[in-house]
Amino acid sequence: MLSLKRILLIVDGPGVMTHTAPLVTSLLRQGVAVRVALTESARLLVGDYFTTMLSGTPLVRFPDIPEKILDDSDAVLAAPVSEKLAKTLCEDNWQAAWKRVKGPVVIVPAFLPQEDGADIRKTLSSHGGGAVQWLMADGETTDMGSLGLLDVASPARCLEAAMTALTKRDFAGKRVLITAGPTAEDFDPVRFVTNRSTGRMGVALARMAAWRGADVTIVHGPMSWPVPPHGGIHACPVRNAQAMYDAVMACVAEMDLAILCAAVADFTPIEYSNVKIKKQKNTDGVFSLKMKRTPDILDSIGHATGRHPFLVGFAAESDHVQAYAQAKLESKNCDMLCANDVTKPGSGFAVGTNQVTVFKRDGSVVELPQMSKEDVARRILDIALEGMGRRAAN
Ligand code: C5P
Repeated sequence: MLSLKRILLIVDGPGVMTHTAPLVTSLLRQGVAVRVALTESARLLVGDYFTTMLSGTPLVRFPDIPEKILDDSDAVLAAPVSEKLAKTLCEDNWQAAWKRVKGPVVIVPAFLPQEDGADIRKTLSSHGGGAVQWLMADGETTDMGSLGLLDVASPARCLEAAMTALTKRDFAGKRVLITAGPTAEDFDPVRFVTNRSTGRMGVALARMAAWRGADVTIVHGPMSWPVPPHGGIHACPVRNAQAMYDAVMACVAEMDLAILCAAVADFTPIEYSNVKIKKQKNTDGVFSLKMKRTPDILDSIGHATGRHPFLVGFAAESDHVQAYAQAKLESKNCDMLCANDVTKPGSGFAVGTNQVTVFKRDGSVVELPQMSKEDVARRILDIALEGMGRRAAN
């Protein structure tokens, strides 16, 4: 878990009806304490008890924000706010207030269809950098019923921006490659071979690295877990093992860290039929699929000549976890290998938790407790960062 972080959420206008409940609840779920400041117009729409009940803390009436609340806040998220308020928050008289806050102030402006946003773009260009950051709609809209469509970043994007503002940027400037999810190996237009991976562990790694300031590329198969809408995560969707190999090999040399978390199919059908294969009535009811090995991506990076990133592999095992993991670390030439016993309850596929043991190249072993996949991701990134530092120093 994060050590307790506090955020001040400023809300203005009709966005209080669509953004505030999902934002407050998702921030609380991440262990963040939320203090909500509503403007007069937001209070008119939802009443004073709405955010008090949601956040569990007394309402603050904007603009009367007590200094103690500013001093206690690790970041401010103004989401959503009208064009007029977004401009006001950038004016000089608010700068002294923002200096009291420990971290950044993220402003999420919202435009009604009749507003063109020209003014805010001018303000934005003259207030780049510093404590104030902007999260623009970038084509996203929220349906406000009879009011029409509001141009504003979605609650999910606001959450990613808030968590990034609250997290120490110890991966800033680092390029991180992650593979995630299963692969799907087609053998006719409707049928394919795959596995039970959902991609959740890989997505957690991508998300935690992005919150810490990394520039993340996630090469993923067909996942049932969505890639979070974070500006620092570039998704590269692929379908099969060969496509994952090609996508990874095209960018791996530029990376500082590569974590290969995908459950890549080990075998792929030798033949692909362009038409749907019929049930063969003239056979004895047996259908055979001839398959061949797929390229091993982790092994190829580990044995590539020239510079390669700090390399982390995963191993899902069902028996002899320690022996297989140690052997895999050596044979695939990784810097670190994260092993989990997929037969243990709360560990492995399609659950929110994982129990991982980390094997390092120097022979040391770190056994992590069973935790949420996001907490496991945090710990894996901590250990990798330490290893990367040590490698750079040698
Ligand atoms: O040999 P095994 O499949 O158990 O190794 C697992 C590790 O190797 C994982 O990190 C997985 O992402 C990676 N791998 C790969 N390409 C394959 C098979 C596995 O990168 N074709």
